[in-house]
Amino acid sequence: MAQLKKIAINTGGGDAPGLNAVIRAIVVSALNKGYEVFGIRDGYNGLLKPEDYPEGGLIPMTRRTVRGITHLGGTILGTTNKGNPAKYPTMGPDGKMYEKDRTDELVEAFRKNGIEALVALGGDGSLGIANTLAEKGLRVVGVPKTIDNDLDKTVATFGFDTAVSFATECLDRLHSTAESHCRVMVVEVMGRYAGWIALNSGVSGNADAILLPEIPYDINKVAAALKERPKRGKNYCIVVVAEGAKPVGGSASVIGKEIGRAEKLGGAGDRVAKELEPLVGKECRTVVLGHLLRGGSPTTFDRLISLRFGAAAVRALEEGRSGVMVALDPPTVRYVPLAEATSRMKTVPPDCDTIKTARDLGICLGD
Ligand code: F6P
Repeated sequence: MAQLKKIAINTGGGDAPGLNAVIRAIVVSALNKGYEVFGIRDGYNGLLKPEDYPEGGLIPMTRRTVRGITHLGGTILGTTNKGNPAKYPTMGPDGKMYEKDRTDELVEAFRKNGIEALVALGGDGSLGIANTLAEKGLRVVGVPKTIDNDLDKTVATFGFDTAVSFATECLDRLHSTAESHCRVMVVEVMGRYAGWIALNSGVSGNADAILLPEIPYDINKVAAALKERPKRGKNYCIVVVAEGAKPVGGSASVIGKEIGRAEKLGGAGDRVAKELEPLVGKECRTVVLGHLLRGGSPTTFDRLISLRFGAAAVRALEEGRSGVMVALDPPTVRYVPLAEATSRMKTVPPDCDTIKTARDLGICLGD
């Protein structure tokens, strides 16, 4: 029988396929071990803004609540990327918005509700917050979520495989239309400042060029590589651009920064297409996959790691662990300190095997 009685789950930041599978695994295995489980609505808003939830910011989780959700995209708890409790967007007396640290209030809200431990499902931002809560005395176990796969100390985050699989399917579909029209199709994918989605889908989907945040590109070199294609009997091109890609000496396409939120990226694909068109002499069209990469059912791989992560998170609580993140370390899962997992972003190493494969296959990486 569990020593802890009440635990809570929250989902923070951008959603990722697999969140519901993790929630179900946590709830079912925790109920089986004698815990009471609560879901916090919309990140931490269920606790920080209870007035917004007349039916309660904490949802009692039962087997019924999580029945039939393993394969569903999104999160039944809701999420937000405007609710960082350490930088909570708050209106000042002058009517202006500023960032307020509400982490002490949040720890107090857990205590008042009798919740002894939290399983936090999030990316680097949300798990950084989870680490702060652990440092303030709450029992916390993190689960690595993000389509970007940029969390350190885990081989994979859940959601990434689904996003890459969908992006690859989109690239497959674009080949025939690009060929029919002799066009250059520029496909922008998410990933923030890590190029994992672009690299893995670009190599798998037979792109001619892949531009990543980790390798600043020279547009003239990209154009020169694309102009070689017709000589090899290919009159169209597919270019995959990570949203965080940047030209040599330039910066990523940042389109905004709001109080309490991370920078918003956008326009990297259009920028590349616009510059390429006159250089290549072919019509260049942009497709932005954007939030489509976050939707849909998780792949079998993502479902399975999600269920494994959720069950492992409850085992971690049973073992008395706190301040750790569940990490995939095939063939097993292990626990790593949250502080280590969030201290640096896991970007694509420019000498990794997939980069070497891309080069060996003649894919231009813009350098
Ligand atoms: O972190 C996941 C992610 O999907 C990034 O790839 C992207 O930059 C960001 O979220 C966009 O989030 P939103 O549009 O929800 O603010």
